[in-house]
Amino acid sequence: MNHWEEFLAPYKQAVDELKVKLKGMRGEYEFQQTHSPIEFVTGRVKPIASILDKANQKGIALSDIEREMQDIAGLRMMCQFVEDIHTVVERLRARRDFKVIEERDYVTHKKPSGYRSYHVVVDYPVQTIKGEKNILVEIQIRTLSMNFWATIEHSLNYKYSGQFPERIQMRLQRAAEAAFRLDEEMSLIREEIQEAQAIFTNKMEKDKRGSGSTDKRIHKQ
Ligand code: GTP
Ligand code: MG
Repeated sequence: MNHWEEFLAPYKQAVDELKVKLKGMRGEYEFQQTHSPIEFVTGRVKPIASILDKANQKGIALSDIEREMQDIAGLRMMCQFVEDIHTVVERLRARRDFKVIEERDYVTHKKPSGYRSYHVVVDYPVQTIKGEKNILVEIQIRTLSMNFWATIEHSLNYKYSGQFPERIQMRLQRAAEAAFRLDEEMSLIREEIQEAQAIFTNKMEKDKRGSGSTDKRIHKQ
């Protein structure tokens, strides 16, 4: 195993474990048949090239990246409604398998770029054959709308290396405003949406229990 693989192994372990755990939270809400504040969860270990780029840009010595780079292990939790973000953050703070050590609220304080998200940095203990190793993990909690914007902006950033032509810059700002308004509109009809989703979920459950009707249809063909 080369040096990087060995260094990144506990980060990979942390991401894999946390994906299971955070997806498990969603499962729990589903069992309760209540609205899940979590829509879906993703996770990744930062690619080596990106770690090197960032260390270079920020002047972080390679010997310090373990402490100074908080997002080598990263997870994202997507929510339907802005209100869900706060529910999720509270659930994370209450957990006993890691410790929240930093929070950055770009939901109420958006970045100049228009970026919105709630960032939580946690200290997560990974069990290794050499004992416990504490890993910093960045969890970004955002709505689907915030995620859409951030994903698009990230791709454009990559294309233009952060130097957007004025026209694109303006469009991105307007898109950020539209994403914000979409979240606001959805929040206003949140209760109706949740009621409709509960009815739909119940119906699906009933249909599933009711018969193997889909099987029959397949056999007829
Ligand atoms: P970093 O040096 O990038 O870690 O900045 P920071 O230490 O101030 O952390 P911050 O919490 O602000 O943001 C870290 C992460 O948030 C980034 O790696 C991105 O995933 C995301 N992010 C922050 N700002 C933006 C933005 O303007 N656009 C997009 N698309 N993502 C952003
Ligand atoms: Mg950071």
